[in-house]
Amino acid sequence: MCKVSDLHMPGAMCSILANEEVMTTDGTKDGPVGLARGLTHYGDADFSLYLRRSFMQAMGYSRELLAQPIIGIIDTGSDFNNCHRHFPELIDAVKRGVLVAGGLPMAFPTISLGEVFQHPTSLMFRNLMSIDTEEMVRAQPMDAVVMVGGCDKTVPAQLMGAASADVPAIQLLAGPMMPSSFRGERLGACTDCRRFWGQFRAGKVSGEQIHEIEANLATTAGTCAVMGTASTMASIAEALGMCLPGTAAIPAVHADRLRAGEASGRRAVELARHPIRPSQIITEKSVENALRVLLAIGGSTNAIIHLTAIAGRRGIKITLQQLNRLSDTTPVIVDLKPTGLHYMSDLHAAGGIGAVLRELKPLLNLECMTVAGETLGERLSREIPWVDRSIVRPLAEPYQSEGGLVGLFGSLAPGGAILKRSAADPALFEKEGRAVVFTSLEDLAARIDAPDLDVTPDDFMIMQNAGPKSGTGMPEAGYLPIPSKLARAGVKDMVRMSDARMSGTAYGTIVLHITPESAAGGPLAMVRDGDRIRLSVKNRRVDLLVDDAELARRQTAWRAPAARPARGYAQLYMDHVLQATDGCDFDFLRG
Ligand code: FES
Repeated sequence: MCKVSDLHMPGAMCSILANEEVMTTDGTKDGPVGLARGLTHYGDADFSLYLRRSFMQAMGYSRELLAQPIIGIIDTGSDFNNCHRHFPELIDAVKRGVLVAGGLPMAFPTISLGEVFQHPTSLMFRNLMSIDTEEMVRAQPMDAVVMVGGCDKTVPAQLMGAASADVPAIQLLAGPMMPSSFRGERLGACTDCRRFWGQFRAGKVSGEQIHEIEANLATTAGTCAVMGTASTMASIAEALGMCLPGTAAIPAVHADRLRAGEASGRRAVELARHPIRPSQIITEKSVENALRVLLAIGGSTNAIIHLTAIAGRRGIKITLQQLNRLSDTTPVIVDLKPTGLHYMSDLHAAGGIGAVLRELKPLLNLECMTVAGETLGERLSREIPWVDRSIVRPLAEPYQSEGGLVGLFGSLAPGGAILKRSAADPALFEKEGRAVVFTSLEDLAARIDAPDLDVTPDDFMIMQNAGPKSGTGMPEAGYLPIPSKLARAGVKDMVRMSDARMSGTAYGTIVLHITPESAAGGPLAMVRDGDRIRLSVKNRRVDLLVDDAELARRQTAWRAPAARPARGYAQLYMDHVLQATDGCDFDFLRG
């Protein structure tokens, strides 16, 4: 039997095929490892390995280093991603950790998704990035991988790819930005972006001031400073057990972030020697833990789509009924924007996600394995030094008594819809209203501020054709702006409904992800101006109060909107994307 170390000796004549049994240097694992893993097909495996070694030596590596376990490091730094601008330093820290533990670090790029730089939306490219991640992890010779990501869709894309590739993997997060200040007030991306923009639209903030605010919203490297989608997904990565304990909330610019990078590199070498695979970590039980954390932190509505997609890669189904069951028994215990007052850097100082997990301990499945090689229960048996109770409340004295998200069903959303009740106005939870319908994003943009728009604060604003198959990429446009004539009159919230998404940093009484979507002929497509709609959060319902005969007539007359021109990836997306309740993954990628 060949030893990998022998294969790197000059003149070694040992024959190796990609599927031939080979021992690692410490004799703990079968199967080709290191450079011998996944050889390029030239019809001669010895030649393939000889050529690969030769080309590696072109990069100046010693034979000693080439004999070590190979740790891939996914670098998603990009000039089009402000949140990842510290990645060169972070990747260096990972490499240090790998080297010190006796591994060979190999950084490589994949797609990066800078949230505000993607057209039409970053969600549309999440599946593409997940394919890139899965395929490059599988195609290149690595024994374990550190996935460095952070901005909204990058973490779900990397976790989806890792779940499918099933190579030992650690998620290393970018960490949140630091908040800044504006005239004595703390502010950070991006709940404050929306708050000030609303005030600008209402005429309460001047053009000069909004320029000054613009320059102070995002002032450091890292992901959005509040419990938006990026912070929620970071918290979920820690709850799942896919990143090292205590690392989700460390600010991007904190020295601890670099130490987390070094520790992730070191741990990846141990994982290469004693593999724990994503399939052993992402299980039904750990997904339930992640759902509990999502609800307890008042996390983003986007996260339910992403977690559904990640779980789906391992064949695990999440339903909105399950979400509601957990939501009834999981209070919100974290006081962070947009639900509360504080920022992610405050959560880190307050005890981080470890403090949240400790409070939720009686509700969690403690037997779940983590990437650290210990169970969640073992992790939580250790004391943490201090918890700031103004930010992480005790389970018995929660910030809100029920979970942050709730699934709704009814004649308007037979497949389900979602409401972030923790960031909504309870005064609007039990209400019937008149529909004011916008048939598309373009229609919304054209008419929302029209002085003659027939709308009152008691109406329900409805937007159609912004779901997964609409050709728009299911944008974060569900946060329909309050019509400026109402905003100027002091209206701050109204009931809004659509098949679109909403940024995790946004707030309001906003029903999202209505399924089936209107582009697929769902009931949302049948709503007309003046229809009555009833929302009952208590009963988990959203109903279109139109009689069956009239609905049947509209259904017969309904024609799908003209398809937006598409080719290449956009066409693939249109052909294969699933509804929000299935995580908007592609049908052919699910486990
Ligand atoms: Fe990157 Fe918000 S823009 S996390």
